[in-house]
Amino acid sequence: MSVRDLVSVIREWAPAAPAPRVGVVLGSGLSGLADEVAEAVRIPYADLPGFPQAAVSGHRGELVLGRLAGTPVAVMAGRVHAYERGDPRAMEMPIATLKGLGAGILVLTNAAGSLREEVPPASPMLIADHINGSGMNPLIGREGDGRFVDLVDAYDPALRAVARGVAADLGIALPEGVYMWFSGPSFETPAEIRMARVLGADAVGMSTVPEVILARYHGLRVLALSMITNLAAGMTGRPLSHQETKDEAARGAARFRDLLLGILAEIGDA
Ligand code: HPA
Repeated sequence: MSVRDLVSVIREWAPAAPAPRVGVVLGSGLSGLADEVAEAVRIPYADLPGFPQAAVSGHRGELVLGRLAGTPVAVMAGRVHAYERGDPRAMEMPIATLKGLGAGILVLTNAAGSLREEVPPASPMLIADHINGSGMNPLIGREGDGRFVDLVDAYDPALRAVARGVAADLGIALPEGVYMWFSGPSFETPAEIRMARVLGADAVGMSTVPEVILARYHGLRVLALSMITNLAAGMTGRPLSHQETKDEAARGAARFRDLLLGILAEIGDA
């Protein structure tokens, strides 16, 4: 199904929903926010060919149209990761569809491991830049000059300023940092984490980077927030687990929610 067809299918499901201004992707353990969408129309990904039939626990698998903090949104509760398909283009159709529905901004959230001891589990982190450590790129195979996407200020400086302002108003510490993408699904080795630190990473994770590249290709402005769920491999002497990711995301969820709603309230008028 083409992006145009997907947009029509979604408009038929939700004829009265306002055109979304902001697309929101909810990462591991953060799907709860989808329940707070007002005037919600929920469309299972199963009814949207080309949308991820997400199969990672902690990810839900529905597109929710409506309003969050008054702002018209299209919320993806659950993403698909490159590691599920061996394909960094896994989120291409959803992102193109969010753009087709009218969104001008994409807000991405993820769970991530922290390389900084002073940014512990259950903290939010604002992503300022990324390192693509995967060797994959979702634009490989595209034709035309549009594929040479500029990634300077890919993480929109004005949106980051909004996020910092909202965090300050709410009294939430919001460190900014560089997110390094590892393909996963295995966690990193301690040696890889030492390498990531030398390279300038503050956090590591298995998503978001290909989505940012696709979003910039489509001209969407991007804001990305990590929920830190653990100190990265080798930093604590304990093994890492997906269960810990989900548990710590749940612990930090209330703060993360307040932050996200505050940001959405502001950028709805931007
Ligand atoms: N590494 C990669 N992805 C993650 C981590 C991690 O430590 N924590 C949550 N997602």
